[in-house]
Amino acid sequence: MRDILDAIASRSSIRSYTEEKLTTDQLDAVLTAGLQAPTATNRQELHFTVLEGTAPILFEIQDAMGMRSRPNSNFWYDAPTVIVISGERDFRWTAVDAGIAVENMALAAGALGLGNVILGCLKMAMEGEKGEYFSKALAFPEGYGFQIAIALGHAAADKEPHTYERDKLVTVL
Ligand SMILES: Cc1cc2nc3c(=O)[nH]c(=O)nc-3n(C[C@H](O)[C@H](O)[C@H](O)COP(=O)(O)O)c2cc1C
Repeated sequence: MRDILDAIASRSSIRSYTEEKLTTDQLDAVLTAGLQAPTATNRQELHFTVLEGTAPILFEIQDAMGMRSRPNSNFWYDAPTVIVISGERDFRWTAVDAGIAVENMALAAGALGLGNVILGCLKMAMEGEKGEYFSKALAFPEGYGFQIAIALGHAAADKEPHTYERDKLVTVL
């Protein structure tokens, strides 16, 4: 497994996937990385719903999103696996914890040689008029709401990590 700093430095959002599925071990390792993420006060208020990229509910969510801007693609880019993270609506740190968990999973996926992209674009649909129906269909526990999702698979094309302007983004006092 690659060094953690290498996994961070080489991470990039992948938006094109082959049809090759994740193995059970790969999926288990990615999920474990999410479960091992810290949560505020160790509340463990997140839930992980695993879906195949062919799951009908994903297409229903896609329909509710409209997606006019990307007519030739779905929001999970035909990735073979999508994991949706839900969390307790009434806990102060749920969104932060979900962000930490999904990045743990993204880095674990990268370390395993898997492409991935974090997905927030379904939020509007998940909180829209069919939100309750989607939450039930995705087996969210009672009182849990959508937080974030991640699509996973084998990258169909390489992509360079993004650049950034360190001087603008960092102040050392
Ligand atoms: C909270 C969050 C939500 C995101 N939602 C989406 C999304 O819905 N669809 C998408 O294609 N990428 C999504 N991304 C990926 C970002 O667009 C991407 O991380 C950013 O453009 C930087 O590119 P990089 O990940 O390749 O470095 C999301 C990323 C984050 C952190």
